[in-house]
Amino acid sequence: MNSQAYRNTLLRLSFLTVVLAATPLPAQLGSATGVAQTPVFAFGVSHDDTATELYHEDDRPQFHFTPVKNWMNDPNGPIYYEGEYHLFYQYNPFGIEWGHMSWGHAVSRDLVHWKHLPIALSEENGVMIFSGSTVVDWHNSSGFCRGTGAKTPSCLVAIYAGHSAKLETQNLAYSNDRGRTWTKYPDNPVIDLHLASFRDPKVFWHEGTRQWVMVTVLASQHKVRFFGSTDLKHWTALSDFGPAGATGGVWECPDLFPLPVDGDVNQTRWVLSINLPRGAASGWSNQYFIGLFDGTTFSAESSVEKPLWVDYGPDFYASTSFSDLPKSDRRHIWLGWLTNWEYAARVPPDPWRGAHSIPRQVKLKQFADGIRLVQEPIRELQVLRARHTRVGNRSIEAANNLLKSKKVRGEMLEITAELSTEDAAEFGLKVRQGNGEETVIGVDTKKQTLFVDRTRSSSVRLDEHFPRRDSGPIRLTAGKSVKFHIFIDRSSVEVFGNDGETVISETIFPGQGSDGIEIYSLAGRGRVLKMDVWNLKSIYQ
Ligand code: FRU
Repeated sequence: MNSQAYRNTLLRLSFLTVVLAATPLPAQLGSATGVAQTPVFAFGVSHDDTATELYHEDDRPQFHFTPVKNWMNDPNGPIYYEGEYHLFYQYNPFGIEWGHMSWGHAVSRDLVHWKHLPIALSEENGVMIFSGSTVVDWHNSSGFCRGTGAKTPSCLVAIYAGHSAKLETQNLAYSNDRGRTWTKYPDNPVIDLHLASFRDPKVFWHEGTRQWVMVTVLASQHKVRFFGSTDLKHWTALSDFGPAGATGGVWECPDLFPLPVDGDVNQTRWVLSINLPRGAASGWSNQYFIGLFDGTTFSAESSVEKPLWVDYGPDFYASTSFSDLPKSDRRHIWLGWLTNWEYAARVPPDPWRGAHSIPRQVKLKQFADGIRLVQEPIRELQVLRARHTRVGNRSIEAANNLLKSKKVRGEMLEITAELSTEDAAEFGLKVRQGNGEETVIGVDTKKQTLFVDRTRSSSVRLDEHFPRRDSGPIRLTAGKSVKFHIFIDRSSVEVFGNDGETVISETIFPGQGSDGIEIYSLAGRGRVLKMDVWNLKSIYQ
């Protein structure tokens, strides 16, 4: 989206925006450029340490990443370096609406608990810091890295889109102190095509051609453009991909990475993911293509007409994957913004707005109809597991009796379940139940779809686009069973069907006390083959 499009989005906002717009902005905003060098918060929580309720506000996710306060959208440049995971994010230091985009920053040692750091990159001279990526420049190819001794110094380099009224360009910044402070490259921009919608650079090292590759979007042309460089400063255009697949919205936040198929490194394919707001009539917004990348050109092997979808819910956007995970960790992990441009600015705020998904491991798997991306929650999340309830093989009725007698309920839960049916039209789970509210996670056995129905998830009407039922294809086994892996937080559900073959992410805003769970079947009987429920701890405990 360009500034105008953003403005339009914001103009279409409901009463909430109007109320919020009337809220006085912080004094820092007073400079001529709208630039503030003063971080709004420093280490930990500093904006209002006395607020005992901070982090425990009604809708505040208790294990999903959120900013201390103000607006957040895309995750940017997630990376591992010297024992820390870094997460940057699109951030407005001055308010609860989109604007003054900067890179917020947090670090973690376990991908679950995050420590907030001062803003990494601030808007300056009218140039906002749009989405991008970071790399470790291991061999100082850029010349930005300082160091002493014989060892070649390494440093972190951020590659971001600079956004001003009519121009988007690619820019660099670097850090020689483990991401604590950043210097913008004085010769920015490093790529200027004189275009208004050219953004979201994702950079990685391509060993085969021994060069850095930058993946960008010419957003309104529905094209991905690849560039190559040996020093991160001088870039040559390599090739374009697109238009292809879904083009119903601008293309944003591309990612490109190789993965072994079924773990076989001799069978590697590349995944090119491209996000688009309101991209498909369905509301899905994260499409991907599978193919080969030779360091210059991406050749799709999957259909370029009918894209594949990463997530069948409306709320997994701008996904981007971690760079430089330790060599011993062979996983590929990404995360996304847990909402949708359609209503991101209208959902309950105060004092923050926006959350990121749980980090997910992505893999490629061969199925009868082709190679597909599967996603699984990262194992690190298991540290949050608290009270555990196991439900063995029994009828749905008996399983519900057991859940009731053990008082199994919660606003933060992890559930793994394998459910089956002989003849039911539908079966699944109802979560965040209570006071007339419920979110249904089910399987339609005729259509062979997994769905999340949030039409009754909140008794408060949030937005006309909010109540919906979303579904994606699911394969039932011969015994007509389906596996569910579900993460429920204060204001979201993420559902991984059949070991991550079908994923549905949804924000929900039930009232406090809507914390019941129930297994159900419709027009027929169902069975629990096995089920585990964990109450999850808050990361703020
Ligand atoms: C995606 C996006 C990016 C852009 C950023 C601006 O949500 O629109 O294309 O860089 O957000 O905040």
